[in-house]
Amino acid sequence: MAQKKTILDLVKMKETGEKAAWMVMYDACFASYAEEAGMDMILVGDSMGMIVYGYEGTVPVTMDMSIAHCQGVRRGAPNTYLIGDMPFGAYHASVGDAVHNAVRFMKEGGVDAIKLEGGVAVADKIEAIGKAGIVVFGHIGLTPQSSAAMGGFKVQGKNTATAKAVIDDAIAVYKAGARALLLEGVPEEVCAFVHKILPIPVYGIGAGIQCDGQVILAADALGMYKNFTPKFAKKYCDIGEIATRGMKDYIEEVKGGRFPAPEHKYKFGGDIDEFRAFLEETEKNLDL
Ligand code: KIV
Repeated sequence: MAQKKTILDLVKMKETGEKAAWMVMYDACFASYAEEAGMDMILVGDSMGMIVYGYEGTVPVTMDMSIAHCQGVRRGAPNTYLIGDMPFGAYHASVGDAVHNAVRFMKEGGVDAIKLEGGVAVADKIEAIGKAGIVVFGHIGLTPQSSAAMGGFKVQGKNTATAKAVIDDAIAVYKAGARALLLEGVPEEVCAFVHKILPIPVYGIGAGIQCDGQVILAADALGMYKNFTPKFAKKYCDIGEIATRGMKDYIEEVKGGRFPAPEHKYKFGGDIDEFRAFLEETEKNLDL
């Protein structure tokens, strides 16, 4: 079994040019497959709002929901680097809230790092969490928690002025002490520049290939989410199709009396004649 990574391993991977592959998931079962596959990191993302809970966005996700899912993932993948995603409202009101909730992720969720969305606007929170000894991953560009303010899930940095805002955010996040940065939904040129200027690992989702690694939602990569697939997501298999087929077969077999088959039944281990006599007697004396 591979040794669990630390932030220093992630930095070393950047230095040697080894790309990091991470995935977003929310439960022990999938996490165990990720660990078996050799995933570098798992993010328990607040995208659970849509994927697990059926909300339209990430805003309804709470700290308690996030921590419960981190605990499940940690049990399923005890040796994989785990990142908890600070949900909307968990770090916005005050620096105190931000540190308190990041500490909860570490103590209760068993994570190795936390991620939070925003650049210049949350630099004070990043700094305070970092000073508490917690590894912070920044997340800038298309930040789903701010989709209402952005007018939807919109690619950021598509012209010089907005690219400058993304780059300013990247620099602010780095200067505040973030140990790694995720860029989402930006043109490759913007990500490539941020990757060139920052000494910390820079990862991408919908940000092109010129960075230190990629993250993708397991729901997108494995074909489990029907409602929406972003342009940048690649489907590596179609669990949704396999699951629907399996469920249809199950329904058909139950209705057709073919499931359970003999191999799925438990055998009675006692004296069968004695048991039959007992049943007969019980039925005779029934008073329903
Ligand atoms: O919550 C999530 O899934 C994320 C990814 C988009 C990186 O933050």
